[in-house]
Amino acid sequence: MSATGDGSARPGAPASAEGPGTPIHLRPAREADVPVLVPLLLRLKRLNEEFDPLLKVRDDADEQARQVLHANLADPKAIVLAAEGVGADKDKVVGFVRAVVRERPFYVPEHEGVILDIYLLPLYRRRGVGEYLLREISAALKAKGAGVVTAEFPAQNEIASRFYAKRGFRPITAIHARSL
Ligand SMILES: CC(C)(COP(=O)(O)OP(=O)(O)OC[C@H]1O[C@@H](n2cnc3c(N)ncnc32)[C@H](O)[C@@H]1OP(=O)(O)O)[C@@H](O)C(=O)NCCC(=O)NCCS
Repeated sequence: MSATGDGSARPGAPASAEGPGTPIHLRPAREADVPVLVPLLLRLKRLNEEFDPLLKVRDDADEQARQVLHANLADPKAIVLAAEGVGADKDKVVGFVRAVVRERPFYVPEHEGVILDIYLLPLYRRRGVGEYLLREISAALKAKGAGVVTAEFPAQNEIASRFYAKRGFRPITAIHARSL
């Protein structure tokens, strides 16, 4: 597996995700999406596994993903948006973004919107779609009371580091680990 997750070619000309040529349609995910969201979520976790041996994917990750997504869809503090393709990929879910609003007991703003996962199939990358997902989930988190938006991703995931840095995100906390 390549560092792009599944090695597919990058698309050609850049396109804006908000113009008439938008290559995706974004909508809230629903229960019926879970079977297609699970493999996308697992692709992301397997990509992270490539970056760091401490992120080795569990054997039962498939079932865990199902449970996590079902729980998110029932949780008013969580948001899962599904990106559908257009044209030949119409009605096919080609990516998603998952986030949750968390309380910050010691800091203001008192609520943060945490982006937990963002994933697009390789053919949809590098065309501004990720930026569009980020903008939409940020607005949805703000509407749920978040005063700041944060993103959790593996420190070794260069794609995520560059993607978020380009959009003005900077590190504010760090989790350091060692095996026991
Ligand atoms: C992260 C992701 C959703 C971004 O979506 P996208 O549509 O490619 O992002 P945009 O087109 O809006 O922005 C592209 C920027 O993201 C970063 N980026 C995207 N792919 C990259 C890669 N393979 N290597 C390095 N940086 C990358 C760069 O900053 C890039 O800007 P550039 O093209 O000027 O170099 C998408 O690349 C993806 O699904 N990656 C795999 C999953 C992942 O790592 N998710 C983040 C961890 S939760």
